[in-house]
Amino acid sequence: MSTRKVVLAYSGGLDTSVAIPWLRERGYEVIALTIHVGQPVDLQAVRKKALASGAKRAYVVDARDEYAREYLRPALQANLLYEGQYPLSTALARPLIGQHLVAVARKEGAGAIAHGCTGKGNDQVRFDVCTTSLAPELEVIAPAREWGMTRDEEIAYAEAHHVPVAARRASPYSTDENLWGRSVECGILEDPAVEPPEEVYGWTTSPERAPDKPEYVRIAFEGGAPVALDGERMSLRPLIERLNRTAGAHGVGRIDHLESRLVGIKSREVYECPAATVLLAAHQGLEAMTLPRDLLAAKRGIERQYAQAVYDGLWFTPLRTAFDAFVGATQERVEGEVAMKLYKGQARVSGRRSPFALYRQSLATYSDGDEFRAESARGFIYVWGLPSRTWAAVGEKRAPGARVTARTTRRSR
Ligand code: ARG
Repeated sequence: MSTRKVVLAYSGGLDTSVAIPWLRERGYEVIALTIHVGQPVDLQAVRKKALASGAKRAYVVDARDEYAREYLRPALQANLLYEGQYPLSTALARPLIGQHLVAVARKEGAGAIAHGCTGKGNDQVRFDVCTTSLAPELEVIAPAREWGMTRDEEIAYAEAHHVPVAARRASPYSTDENLWGRSVECGILEDPAVEPPEEVYGWTTSPERAPDKPEYVRIAFEGGAPVALDGERMSLRPLIERLNRTAGAHGVGRIDHLESRLVGIKSREVYECPAATVLLAAHQGLEAMTLPRDLLAAKRGIERQYAQAVYDGLWFTPLRTAFDAFVGATQERVEGEVAMKLYKGQARVSGRRSPFALYRQSLATYSDGDEFRAESARGFIYVWGLPSRTWAAVGEKRAPGARVTARTTRRSR
């Protein structure tokens, strides 16, 4: 293992490009690694740019299917939403990238990995924790956390070190994209009093300008995971890609979140998660039909904790494994088809059916064929309400203002 060899998570952007000469100046040989998780990227161009910036070797890995299968499937089964709003689209990709960084570091005999995160976000925590919990011996370097350069200084540094700099003016926003969603921060979004301007959105039509006619999509689930869209069987990755386009065109999946970061900062984040929004609503709609009330309630509690663990970078931990085992045990009967209505920014369940439905029309109906034995309700309610009636009755015996202790004292005299 060479302590002077580092595997860098390379996006092709300014920060990670500048990181290459910065690491080389500190005596490291740099191996670049780019992971395709569904961001708009020309992998071959990124690879060339890494080499042009001074990387010794550059790997590119298309991990989209793996991401869908190993990360998004369990996230959907667990209905993961951080603070009830954010589908964790950025957070979920971090352990996957970390896993690949570790694999390449092992293959290359590198002693360190590096990433482009600054010191203010959650992603630095996720990369540092996810990689070292898989490979505790690795050193983690975050150049942008250390170098203290402004953007202009970075550009000057890039030019001085022959790093190709994109000609177009940099966007005021910081974005991150993958199959599960697009995250946007910075610029005018830093003022939480201001409505996000239309220009921050890249995947969704504004609900106001979305089609005047609703569109329906049918999603079939087996084992709590989608297996078909509108009757056509397909694997999860293409299903998500197609739903992102269909739902995005109806303005579905815009999220404006005032978010509590793990590092203590409150930040304003805008997300576009069309497919995630539709799938999470459909999945929950099917669970409502197929899981008993107590299990649903217990699962909601686990889901909140699971979401927080993912947000906090704790993917490769026994905690997450245990959450996953719980959720896995609940999904076998989450099977059936859900119709979703997409209209002007909303995605709602419009119909559902399941071979494991606990909903029985013969029990629920107010019409003919009612099988519910309503005469039993009286006895059930007598027993069910017994504790609260007893409580109330005991309380009535105490006159207002009278103290139990006073009465006891009197009697004992
Ligand atoms: N706040 C989100 C998270 O911690 C997303 C961060 C996205 N990064 C970005 N460059 N916009 O998961």
